Amino acid sequence: MPEISTDLDLAVHYLKDGALVALPTETVYGVAGDATNDKAVANIFALKKRPEFNPLIIHYPHITFMNQDVEITELAKKLANAFWPGPLTLVLPRRQESKISFLASAGLDTLAVRIPSHPMTLQILRNFGKPVAAPSANPSSKVSPTSAQHVFDSFKNNPLLPLIIDGGACHVGIESTIIDLTVPIPKLLRPGKITAEEIKNLTGIVLENQSHSKSNPKAPGQLKIHYAPHIPLYLNCTAPKKDQALLAFGPHIPKGAAYSLNLSPSGNLNEAATNLFAMIRLLDNDRYASIAVMPIPKEGLGHAINDRLKRAAQE
Ligand code: TXA
Ligand code: MG
Repeated sequence: MPEISTDLDLAVHYLKDGALVALPTETVYGVAGDATNDKAVANIFALKKRPEFNPLIIHYPHITFMNQDVEITELAKKLANAFWPGPLTLVLPRRQESKISFLASAGLDTLAVRIPSHPMTLQILRNFGKPVAAPSANPSSKVSPTSAQHVFDSFKNNPLLPLIIDGGACHVGIESTIIDLTVPIPKLLRPGKITAEEIKNLTGIVLENQSHSKSNPKAPGQLKIHYAPHIPLYLNCTAPKKDQALLAFGPHIPKGAAYSLNLSPSGNLNEAATNLFAMIRLLDNDRYASIAVMPIPKEGLGHAINDRLKRAAQE
């Protein structure tokens, strides 16, 4: 059974030993292992039952440590200055001399890198002194975790995860924005808190959109079925049925559902993102026939929320 702890030295000790540790980030909890250790990385895939063609994000405490692994382009520097540490992941050309496990990057000649902003995890990364590979700490294709308890619930019987660092609830609540800078027109691979509008305002660049596909190897995390709750989830509901659990948004809530939770009674998209995965978990209960989700505005952070909901939903 994993220990839930705030002992950062213990986390460093386990990482040095090649063991896995669940870490808090501002977006979601990740399950981290030494990114240069094939065995540790293999254990991440085994723990999550993640397909090995789906590469991992490599996490650093500071941009200077990235130099040995990726080519930091001018545009990357600009985005890094504006948004790191923070909920942004950049896909960059991998350097030949990089010691990152090829299993972590699924054999690609690119690496996805980011600097998370949670102070406990930054401290662990600095003291560990090596990058960690860290996907979201959930079984592959299931809902991402935004608390230590969520991670514990998923992996309580798994000896591959000895330690969960408890850094409280994640304040962003959905995974980082991913931008591919290795293609001629930078591409938004996964929408997140940092929006395409913000990137455009900063750089003048209009990101190309990634079209969702069932088998696109470039961004396998964008596979259509992801974030799946156990009971069905339906979108854009305005009249819930009496056996449904309602995931509401905003001040005007339709009546009739068996039970409801509100992502944000005031209609605030930041608050809705923070609550999204935790509330889906709470409603994902056999007591209800399905989860009905009210429409979420398709603006700003609403794009990322709708992206996650679409991939949690039934056709
Ligand atoms: O917020 C986050 O990014 C969290 C926290 C823990 O940092 N991590 C996370 O990791 O969401 P994960 O494994 O759940 O999602 C990683 C995504 C996947 O969609 C994967 O396909 C993509 O990153 N990815 C990783 N390396 C890539 C690469 N070289 N090229 C394109 N996509 C890549
Ligand atoms: Mg994930």
